[in-house]
Amino acid sequence: MNDESTGVREVSEGKAEICADILRDLPGWFGFPGAVEGYSRSIRELPTWICEAGGGAVGIVSLKVHGRFSAEIHLLAVKREWHRRGIGRALLDRAETRARDLGLPFLTLKTVADEDPDPGYARTRTFYLTMGFYPLEVFKTLFKSGDPCLFMVKPL
Ligand SMILES: CC(C)(COP(=O)(O)OP(=O)(O)OC[C@H]1O[C@@H](n2cnc3c(N)ncnc32)[C@H](O)[C@@H]1OP(=O)(O)O)[C@@H](O)C(=O)NCCC(=O)NCCS
Repeated sequence: MNDESTGVREVSEGKAEICADILRDLPGWFGFPGAVEGYSRSIRELPTWICEAGGGAVGIVSLKVHGRFSAEIHLLAVKREWHRRGIGRALLDRAETRARDLGLPFLTLKTVADEDPDPGYARTRTFYLTMGFYPLEVFKTLFKSGDPCLFMVKPL
């Protein structure tokens, strides 16, 4: 899929509302207390792209630059009924391109590790592995939610 067919574009206005609408559709991933409000607030200053389809925003990605060597996928989410249509890949590609353009050698992310049996996060990890991320280390106490955190890295 290219950007035209997926309708990926960078947004600066209305991010919080779009973010909240998408995350409320994904309670299995963003249903913990404060998640929707926290992400809607934290992406305010971050470069953010959305994917529009079917008359509305169905996916979102935000990138957080950490110094001279890496940027982190701070948020990536696609509404449930739009999974497996190439939208996650298209969004990730845009964020990755920005990181490359900035000359950063690594793209990172944190997700839930496989010590947690949740099948939704198993699909998330499969997606990231397919996208070229390496699972590097598990941090058992990093997430406030208590879930084990898997740190993943993609060399750019
Ligand atoms: C993870 C997520 C962003 C992936 O987005 P998506 O649009 O469904 O993924 P894509 O269709 O672009 O998938 C790209 C490739 O990844 C792999 N993949 C994605 N989902 C997969 C799954 N459930 N099982 C196996 N492979 C999968 C496939 O190889 C797929 O290509 P293919 O469909 O041509 O086989 C999306 O499922 C999502 O929003 N999940 C809930 C929120 C979440 O997990 N966010 C990240 C939190 S850290």
